[in-house]
Order: sequence, then structure tokens, then C-alpha cells
Amino acid sequence: MKFDTPATTNPIDQLRIVGQPVERIEGPRKTTGTAPYAYEWHNAVPNQAYGYVVGAAIAKGRIFSISLAEARRAPGVITIVTADTAGKLGKGKWNTARLLGGPEIQHYHQAVALVVAETFEQARAAAQLVHVRYVREEGAFDLAGARASASVPKTGVPETATGDFAGAFAAAPVQLDATYTTPDHSHAMMEPHASMAVWSGDKLTLWTSNQMVDWSRGDVALTLGIPKENVRLISPYIGGGFGGKLFVRSDAVLAALGARAARRPVKVALTRPLMFNNTTHRPATIQRIRIGANRDGKITAIGHESLSGDLAGGKPENAVQQTRLLYAGPNRLTALRLAALDLPEGNAMRAPGEAPGLMALEIAMDEMAEKLGLDPVEFRILNDTQVDPEKPQRPFSERRLVECLRTGADRFGWKARSARPGATRDGEWLVGMGVAAAFRNNQVMKSGARVRVDGAGTVTVETDMTDIGTGSYTIIAQTAAEMMGVPLDRVVVRLGDSNFPVSAGSGGQWGANSSTAGVYAACVKMREALAQKAGIDPASAVFEGGQIRSGERSMPIGAVAGEGGIVAEDFIEFGDLNKKYQQSTFGAHFVEVGVDAATCEIRVRRMLAVCAAGRILNPKSARSQMIGAMTMGVGAALMEELAVDRRLGYFVNHDLAGYEVPVHADIVSQDVIFLDETDPLSSPMKAKGVGELGLCGVGAAIANAVYNATGVRVRDYPVTLDKLISRMPVST
Ligand code: MOS
Repeated sequence: MKFDTPATTNPIDQLRIVGQPVERIEGPRKTTGTAPYAYEWHNAVPNQAYGYVVGAAIAKGRIFSISLAEARRAPGVITIVTADTAGKLGKGKWNTARLLGGPEIQHYHQAVALVVAETFEQARAAAQLVHVRYVREEGAFDLAGARASASVPKTGVPETATGDFAGAFAAAPVQLDATYTTPDHSHAMMEPHASMAVWSGDKLTLWTSNQMVDWSRGDVALTLGIPKENVRLISPYIGGGFGGKLFVRSDAVLAALGARAARRPVKVALTRPLMFNNTTHRPATIQRIRIGANRDGKITAIGHESLSGDLAGGKPENAVQQTRLLYAGPNRLTALRLAALDLPEGNAMRAPGEAPGLMALEIAMDEMAEKLGLDPVEFRILNDTQVDPEKPQRPFSERRLVECLRTGADRFGWKARSARPGATRDGEWLVGMGVAAAFRNNQVMKSGARVRVDGAGTVTVETDMTDIGTGSYTIIAQTAAEMMGVPLDRVVVRLGDSNFPVSAGSGGQWGANSSTAGVYAACVKMREALAQKAGIDPASAVFEGGQIRSGERSMPIGAVAGEGGIVAEDFIEFGDLNKKYQQSTFGAHFVEVGVDAATCEIRVRRMLAVCAAGRILNPKSARSQMIGAMTMGVGAALMEELAVDRRLGYFVNHDLAGYEVPVHADIVSQDVIFLDETDPLSSPMKAKGVGELGLCGVGAAIANAVYNATGVRVRDYPVTLDKLISRMPVST
């Protein structure tokens, strides 16, 4: 099915099951421990062996020698894989560095060996006996220091210029020119990267934890130099990904190589300390923002430039993305610079682009509002735009940022905020409120599904779509139940297997809308097939209560399907509606913080997000996505920072003791409001996405609240107490 004209009324609009806050259908499996994650397929195949990854101890250079003799003699060792023995390997399309290093080393903790043994403990012990001597080379590890050598990236947002930015900025009566920094971040998902590989002849099956089954199937094949058809990927349950599992990582490739060498199934999990440097991370940014405005608060010039780094051949962090679209203003400029660094590979982490971009832009907007003497909510509303500011003939499909801001201000009690920083006190706490806009583009991706109706009337949906903890199982079941007119418990959803039709996968918050639209398309075909078989005009057929009905005639769909059942398969693909219209999701984040007047300890007291993001397919799972993303935003604002060793070139705090993320005790009160919205330009589901929107802007709302509480403006994330305390007024 091609979606190239706006959606009209369709069976989803009944909202009998879609749009209802139903509970996760796979919840009981997860809470009873019977949903197998990648490392837990204990009974899938016999004779499983364990692989342990050895990571490089240098950031850049070569392996001079590698001695395996002692490790080979260790108890239980079956085989050891290194670049010397692995044979010729390719590199995946989505990988920047090779997943097995040697002799050249491209980054710290790049895998250099896999030790395979009878038990995990034996593999781990033997891995300590692999002796590697390196020839270390100097590398570039400091983003600011690499600025001079940075270049215009080949990918990412193009450099944009509209009107005369320089002239308008220089002429603006009120100006802001400020630089903001965001540090490197790690996905730090609960479930580590893990895979189990089994060869049958030249065919490989990989049980793994991966967001994008088809991309990764292709990349495993490319890396191993085998046909894609010979690879099967199985990834039905994923304990968090956040972009860190969009791609194949060393666990998958090394499990495959280990299993080939050991001639038996091999499973590999990355240990927590390996994950931070062996896999990808969100790159640090240095962002310069210039805003010029008239005294009435209208923006006349807005410029955003961002520098980030990556390994040679890598990509920039698209931190300027939202600045092209979020606020009006005739004179505009965005630019990216990419520096070659020898740190581990940077790549997508939840809301890549907008998340770090808004951390900067939305502080800048707060600073600008203060300069103008305007309320920060009103300043944003004053500069709203209903069209693409670079191409005014191009409207937004739906844009209700103003309503999000107004609703949020009202519900949060924004009126009580003092515009003067440091003016509100509650005992030992200085109290402040902050606001930020949320913005994330709506991407659409081709997505397929197969639907089967059996003789009992059970509807089974198969697609290689993944559920990374987001609720995919549930919204796909809701979609099929709505379309086929059956209760939710008559739908079986099977996900995450490359034997199923290729889906959109989970990424860029496109998963919910695109994958359910693919299921919609397959169900439309199924409805036609059932109607035809029942001798009913498909146009007049009604699917309800497990029956297909037309006029007086009605039959159970199972009876129509018969003993053999009926199968229908289709995919959704998207025309150019997202080019004619700018499709984005919007929100507003409101935060109240307390800052201890003596110690500067920061506590988030309340958070509210108001979102306008198309039809909400399941308010309960969408709310969970939002509060999870808002929690992640607390981490980005106040805690998360990969500390770079600029001499040796690695992330020092590579575990959860050193890389802190929020815990329940850090999160007191969170609320989420979804505006009632449908976007018929987005898909037949009229939905968009919220999984990443929830993160976009939170960091700045918190930083702005800290400023409102203390009067200290921190432009370098994370906002930690040491950055406040030396600048706090001393009370006497
Ligand atoms: Mo998201 S960073 O595209 O998983």
C-alpha cells in the first residue's frame, strides 16, 4: 500500500481498541522471566559455549604481537579468535570502525580477541591470559583542540543560509551570542549487547539484541562475506537500545566467528565495562548560538553552529536540526563541523540531533527572553511559525506548540514563577521553574507485515519489527484487533525474526507509526481476502465481534478462513507527503527544581510534559515512553558525562558506578498530557511518535529552572553543583 494522499476515515478511527490504555500484552512474560533475552536462549540449542571479548588497551596504533599460548592452556578453553585467524572480514554499512581490530587498532576497547570456553567464568579467566603488545600512536582526543582541523561533514544537515543572517544579527537591537557544550553520552541500556550464534553448514542463525533486524542482517552478511539470505537474526525481546543497538556490534560478529571456529553454538555478552568504549556513544558537541531580536521580541536572526567529532569516516551529531524549523525569523544560518577524533565511534543515541541541539537552543531562548524582559513561554509563542521558516510555502502537517506551551503553563502553575532568579525559597531550598520547547521530526519508513487468520478466528501478525521496551507488541496487537474486529486476546504478535516481513524497525521514533501502518496495510488485504471468500462486497464488509458482516449476512472470520487459514501480506510505503508538508512532533517541558542554598545539591521536584504528536495509539505505553524519556533528560541535564582521558583516548567512567543515570529516588513527580490530535498526513494510523520527543528539551528546561532558582547560568552540561557553588552569592 502506498500512502501518498491524506488519510480519510478508516477502521482505525473507530478507536475501540486503538487509542485505549491497554496493558502490555507481553508484560506477564517479562515479569515472570519467561521472555527470553538474547543471552537467555538456554534451551534453543544444546552444547552452548561462552565467548569473552578482549578489548584493545590502546586508542590508536597497532598490535605488535599477541600471545595466546597461556590462554589456550587455561581450563575449558575451546578456541580463540583473533584477526589473524578470523579470515578476511568486511565492514558493515552502518559501522564506522571494524568490529574485530588488529593489527591496526582504531579505538580503545575495540575487540582484538574472543576467547571461547566451556563456561563463562573459564572464558573470562582465560581472557586475562591473552598477552597483547601494542605500538601506541598519538591520537586526537580533544574536541575543542581539534576545531582547527574540523571540516564540513559529507552527511548530516546541509549548511543552510536564509536571508542575510550576519547583517540582521549585527543590526538587531537585542543580541545573544553564547556557546554551549554537551558531553559524550552513553546509552547505558539495562541489557548488554549480547548474541548467540549457531552455524548449520554455511547458514548462520544469530539470537541477538538488535533494534533493526534487516539492517543488521545485511551488515552481518557484509562483515562475514556471506549472502544475506544465509543469515537469520532473531531479536524478539530487547532490554533497551536507545540507538546503541541500531547496528551490529562485536558481540554478534564475534559470536559468529567463535561458533565457526568452535564448531558449536557460542554466546557472547559484552560486559558492562566494555560497553562504553567498545560500542557507540552520543558524541559531545560545542554549539554556538546567535539570536538577534527586535525590542518587541520578534526574532530577526537565528544562527546555530555545532562542532562534534568522530572517527575518520564517521558522522556528525546533527545538533542544529531543530533550529531550522522551531522558530520564525527571516534571517537564518545553520552549520555543522566534524572533527576527526580517535575516541570510540560516535553514533545515534535517543533523539540524535534534537536532544543535544535543544539542550543548547532552549537555554539560549531562555537567555534571550530575559534580555528582552519577556516571559520565556510568551517569547516562544511570539516566535511560533506555522510554516517551514526556510520555505514559507511549505506548511507543517500539524503544529500545536503554542497550545502545548499554554496548556503546560496553566497546568503547571507557571504564573507562580518569579521572573527574578533566586527569589523563591522553601526552607533550605532555592526553588526555580524552567520551560523548554520539545521538537522532534516525524520520520516515516517502509514497513511490512504478514497476517494470518486461522480456523479458530485467531489473528497472528508477523513482522521483523522489534520491541525495545516501547510497547510494539501491544500497539501492533491493538491495530490488528481493530482492523479485524476481534478482541485483543484473539491476536498473537510475533516480532523480531528476519524470517518475517521487513519492517521499519525501532529507531528515530518512527517505529510505532510506521510499523502499525504496515500492519494496517496487511489487514486491509486480509479484509479483502476474507470478504472475497465469503462472497461479500469488500466495500460494505463490517468486521466486528469476530464476524464479517454485510447487511443481514454475518459469519465468523475463522469459519471463512477455514481449516487451512488465510494469509495476507503487505507493506506500507510513503509518498512525498512528508516533503510537501513538514511533519514534526511538538511539546513543552516544565520543570521545578530545588537547589540547596548551602551545598548547591540539585533536586528535580516536579516535571510536566505536554505533547502534540498525532494520534496516541496507546496512552499508557506512550506515557511510559514519555516519563522514561523525561527521566533520561534528568540524566543528561544533571549527571551523564563520559569523562575523556585526553592523553590515552578513552572514556574513563565505563561502568554504572562512574557513569551515573537517574534512579527512582531522583524522580519525584512526573506528569504527561497528550493533546487530542490526529495527523492524517502522517499515515493511515494518523499517529506520529513520542519515544524521543519526551527527551527533547528536558535538559534545557532543567538548566533553566536551576538558573531561575539560583541566578547562576550554566552553559556546560551536566549542570553539577561544582559549576554552581563558586558563583553563588554568599549569604551573610
Ligand atoms: Mo534511536 S537513537 O534512532 O534508536
